[in-house]
Amino acid sequence: MTTRRKFLGQSLLGAFAASDTSFWSKTFQGAGFAKPKTLPLVIATWDNRKATQAAWDVLSADGRALDAVEAGARIPEADPLDTSVGYGGFPDRDGHVTLDACIMDEFGMAGSVCFLENIMHPISVARKVMEKTPHVMLVGEGALQFAKEEGFKEENLLTDVAKDAWEKWKLKSEYKPVINIERHDTIGILALDTKNRIAGACTTSGMAFKMRGRVGDSPIIGAGMYADNEVGAAACSGLGEILLRTLGCFLVVEEMRRGASPQKAAELTIERIVKKYPTQCKDAQVGFVVIDVKGRHGAYSIHPGFNYALYQDGKNQVFESKSLFK
Ligand code: GLY
Repeated sequence: MTTRRKFLGQSLLGAFAASDTSFWSKTFQGAGFAKPKTLPLVIATWDNRKATQAAWDVLSADGRALDAVEAGARIPEADPLDTSVGYGGFPDRDGHVTLDACIMDEFGMAGSVCFLENIMHPISVARKVMEKTPHVMLVGEGALQFAKEEGFKEENLLTDVAKDAWEKWKLKSEYKPVINIERHDTIGILALDTKNRIAGACTTSGMAFKMRGRVGDSPIIGAGMYADNEVGAAACSGLGEILLRTLGCFLVVEEMRRGASPQKAAELTIERIVKKYPTQCKDAQVGFVVIDVKGRHGAYSIHPGFNYALYQDGKNQVFESKSLFK
């Protein structure tokens, strides 16, 4: 539970961060206090600047972090050129696009859908699960039934490009993860708003040409994304099987709870994952984006090639992540 002292601290921090850093400079700089980062901020896996822009539109109008991450996640979901999320996502080995997504708000509430077909915006269905049911996760047919009851329309999500890629893949049917496919994959997106509310979302079509019924880390709270308003949040992209075995995002947030910065927490978690699964990690990528409630961020991956979009201080920028292997 947030203590009164912590709440006051966060409020003060939010007040400085959101508005008057010159007041901060005059009052505290000489006294050796670290300068607070400015709020709001939003970070996303990969070069998802259109997503961070959509989120920023919400955040810069003093909107809620939850609305921001949902708005951001919906961008790649509707993009037919993004072959690893939503509409246009590569199908499973039987030719079906199946989608996974999860979302968390500032109260620690969560919603998730897995193995959802024919619905363009699984992130919004996940939010409805969180807000309108007593459950956290709905799967497959049940998730589809719920989505339709909530007014989502069924549509074909398999584009010609994705179908062609699947036809080509079937010639060899080679089933192996590839690092940094086209430098994008799952979108994980985290935001901290001007009222110090944190939220996260994660959405994907999962591993291309996966076995039918396969679900990865993305819809699993703590694996694909985790947010805790007392500490911070983490989201990731990469091989879901590794993240499912380690609950990577939960681990990142727990490292911050024990005092690590967002960057250090991501590094400790990647090191621990690689130590535990050295063989699998040789050819598999995992990358984290992380924020804390002070408005700091971090990112780290197993291999080079992971990047992320950060919108903070009015600038929407892409950065290369540091990695354990060079
Ligand atoms: N990280 C996405 C997946 O493995 O499904």
